[in-house]
Amino acid sequence: MASLTSPWLFLLVAMGCTFLVAARGGSGNPTAGFEKVELTDGDFQVQSPFNVPESQRFQYRNGVRTFWVHRNDKPFNTATHTNPRSEVRLRGHDYSSGVWQFEGYGYIPSGTSGASVMQIHNQEGAAHSTVLMLHVYNGVLRFYSGAEVEPDIYNRWFRLNVVHNVRTSTVTVYVDGKHKFGTSVTPSDSYYFKFGVYMQHHDQSSCMESRWTNVTLYSKH
Ligand SMILES: *[C@@H]1O[C@H](CO)[C@@H](O)[C@H](O)[C@H]1NC(C)=O
Repeated sequence: MASLTSPWLFLLVAMGCTFLVAARGGSGNPTAGFEKVELTDGDFQVQSPFNVPESQRFQYRNGVRTFWVHRNDKPFNTATHTNPRSEVRLRGHDYSSGVWQFEGYGYIPSGTSGASVMQIHNQEGAAHSTVLMLHVYNGVLRFYSGAEVEPDIYNRWFRLNVVHNVRTSTVTVYVDGKHKFGTSVTPSDSYYFKFGVYMQHHDQSSCMESRWTNVTLYSKH
């Protein structure tokens, strides 16, 4: 193995080590220092169009939750005029202080556009109903319909971590463990996490779908 002593190989090894150190210092594991919050299936409250059976817009199979809606579907109940959605509201884990984190592995099939796939929702009746929404438009994951969070989101499992620091009123988004977005947000009295699909107001596809697995909730106080 004479090649092992070549200067070129030593250079490669040195570059690898540099990269690993930089990766640790630059992003690290978003869940480090957080405690896992135990969830049961009952914490995953599904909201889906009221005019069709839930099983026609939501499936939970082999640990994967699949959500889809059609553009002309009805809202999730008869009292609201909101756009169609098939979403989980993490029930019983509303929070008003501390630092909270949503983690999930998501999959958005190509063709899905004009939908929110994850939200931090405020208490009902707050001036703004959300402090964070992650929308997908034509293959790009965005903060609402603004800043790009991840350019190539279709047809692959991605790890999503969303940290909400209630003390400092900031949110931070990680994709595949890497810091992708952060901003300050308007304070509210309490919050909860949602994920699935919720149709938005432009560039909607006729059908919108997202899949989620290994959803975990963390907190730090
Ligand atoms: C979800 O967790 C299981 C068990 O730890 C693991 O085998 C699987 O690869 C995970 N799924 C994804 C998409 O990461």
